[in-house]
Amino acid sequence: MTEIPAALVEALRAAKRVLFFTGAGVSAESGLPTFRDAQTGLWANYKPQDLATPEAFARDPETVWRWYQWRRRVHADVAPNAAHRAIAEFETRLPDAVLVTQNVDRLHELAGSLAPIHLHGSVFRNKCAQCGVEMPEVPHDLESPPRCTECGGLCRPDVVWFGEGLPEGPWKAAVEAAAAAEIVISVGTSATVHPAARIPLLAREAGALVVQVNPEATPLDRVALNLRGPAGVVLPELLSRL
Ligand code: APR
Repeated sequence: MTEIPAALVEALRAAKRVLFFTGAGVSAESGLPTFRDAQTGLWANYKPQDLATPEAFARDPETVWRWYQWRRRVHADVAPNAAHRAIAEFETRLPDAVLVTQNVDRLHELAGSLAPIHLHGSVFRNKCAQCGVEMPEVPHDLESPPRCTECGGLCRPDVVWFGEGLPEGPWKAAVEAAAAAEIVISVGTSATVHPAARIPLLAREAGALVVQVNPEATPLDRVALNLRGPAGVVLPELLSRL
C-alpha cells in the first residue's frame, strides 16, 4: 500500500479549491486500454497516433470512422471503477473541487461526477468534419460516416485529434481552475500531451501543491508529491483518510 503522508491529508482537509486532472490511466482498471497501450483484435496493426489525426480522416475516413465505432462499442461495455467513484465522492466532500479530464470516455459522469471539463471531447458526441455543426449519435455498428444535413460534410467524432486545438470553453475553464487551485491531484496521465499537460504545471506556477497518482514515473515527477500505485487503490485510500 502506498504511504499517504499525514501532511497531505492535513492539506486536503484545509484546502478549499482542489483540482483533479485525469488521463487514460484512471480508466485502465475499468478495462479500457490506455491510448499508448497495444491495441487488440482487428486493430492490433494500427497505431492510435496514426488514426487520431485530421490527415488520417481526410485520407481514409472509413477506416478512422470504423476505429471510433469499435472504440464506442468497447467504451459502452465498461463501468466506472473505484478511482472514478472516489473522485466523485471527493467532489461532494470538498468545498470546491473541479474535475478536468483528458479522457473521451464517460466514466466520470457514470460514477457521479456532475460536470467534468472535457479537454479532448467525447467519443460519444459527433460533429461535421466540414462545418463543425453538432451531429446526433448514431448506432455503434454503422460502418460509414453519415453526411451532414447542413453542408454534406462527413460525420466525425467530437474529439480532439493530434494537431488540433483544444475546445476554447473547456480550455479556458481548466486554466482558470488551475490558477485558482490550492492542490492539484493528477491521476493516470503520462503528462506528455500538450497543451493539456500544462494544466498541473500552471497550477504549480501559481503556487499549488501538485500530487500525482500513477504507478509509473512521468515528467510531472519532479514537481509533484508522488503516490505510486494504481488509482483504484490510492484514491480510495486517500479518501478514507479525509
Ligand atoms: N492508475 C493510475 N495510472 C495508471 C494506471 C492506473 N491503474 N494504469 C496506467 N496508468 C498511467 C500510465 O503509467 C501512464 O502514465 O496512466 C498513464 C496513461 O498515459 P497515456 O496513455 O499517455 O494517457 P493520457 O496521459 O491520458 O494521454 C493524453 O493523449 O493519447 C492522447 O488524446 C489522448 O487524452 C489523451 C492524451
